[in-house]
Amino acid sequence: MNFDLDNELAMRHLDPQDMLGWVERFPEQVADAWARADAIRLPTSYQGKRHIVVLGMGGSAIGGDLLAALLETETQVPITVVRGYRLPAWVNADTLVIASSYSGNTEETLTGFEEALRRGAAVVALTTGGTLARLAEEKGVPVVMFPGGGQPRAAIGYSWILLLGIVQALDYYRLPGEARAEAAHVLDELNTAYGPRVPESANPAKQYARRAYNRVLFVLGAEHLTAVARRWKTQFNENSKQWAAYDELPELNHNTIVGTRAPTDLADHILLISLESPSHHARVQRRWDITATIFQRHKLPHLRLRAAGEHPFTQMMGLIHLGDFVSVYLAFLNGRDPSEIDNINYLKNELARHP
Ligand code: PA5
Repeated sequence: MNFDLDNELAMRHLDPQDMLGWVERFPEQVADAWARADAIRLPTSYQGKRHIVVLGMGGSAIGGDLLAALLETETQVPITVVRGYRLPAWVNADTLVIASSYSGNTEETLTGFEEALRRGAAVVALTTGGTLARLAEEKGVPVVMFPGGGQPRAAIGYSWILLLGIVQALDYYRLPGEARAEAAHVLDELNTAYGPRVPESANPAKQYARRAYNRVLFVLGAEHLTAVARRWKTQFNENSKQWAAYDELPELNHNTIVGTRAPTDLADHILLISLESPSHHARVQRRWDITATIFQRHKLPHLRLRAAGEHPFTQMMGLIHLGDFVSVYLAFLNGRDPSEIDNINYLKNELARHP
């Protein structure tokens, strides 16, 4: 906890795979992802499907949640994210299935990919390589490739924007040019404000990490920001090696806010972080205020964060970027390498030993 977040050398020392650098280069990654997204060409037979499914796990699934959240109020086509081995019964020839796996070797995603092909779905692979790229090539499935070299969660610029590129190439949805431009501008500004060279005294990302230290983190979202709350949760887990969960408003108004009495020292161990937006439904905004009063009444530490920008896309991007910075600074406070994922590797190796 005494770790000095203004000591860049000490941070780099804990970060041999340069996760902080990946976060700092996020705006660049997004720009490159858009260039690749605009170049995507897919068979016209993939257009006009009734349903879109994104298959993926962890860092390769969250882009699907973001896509579904952004498009929910924009398109007629429902988007479902499948995290697991089994496809819903309704997946058939009238479904566009996008199999997203950074490594291309994630068994749940590969199982779903094979099953989608058996069902005659229109399948696209989104990956840096691995078995998924090989199988796709063998079976004549279109592959959208992007560069690897880091951790899957650090490639979210690719794994989300390229999903937008796929739906754009097939005419399901097109993000307005102004939203792209606004997001790029906001990301550049935030990148400067949250970066490692800005001292903790003036750097909100470092300050939030300090507040999050040694607490169970509950990240709360609503509407398009629920997917971002989930992203914060997973980044706290994987980068910071810290316990975290996420929840959603208005649903949390119907249960979570009652669970405030036990454990009796809850306030000493928890931090609630709400991700709020001026674009939320007016009643949702009102609910945030009342919810905050309830938390206050129970003396539960609560950080209320308001998204920057007008367009929901910009708001999502800005808060993703903030969460990524906070999670990496928190890793340093925890004395941890933000890239290390020993428990995931152990689990994958154990599964591989018993196919
Ligand atoms: O962030 C991570 O490393 C994980 O959550 C992975 O994304 C997850 O295990 C799936 O692997 P992949 O992204 O290679 O399909």
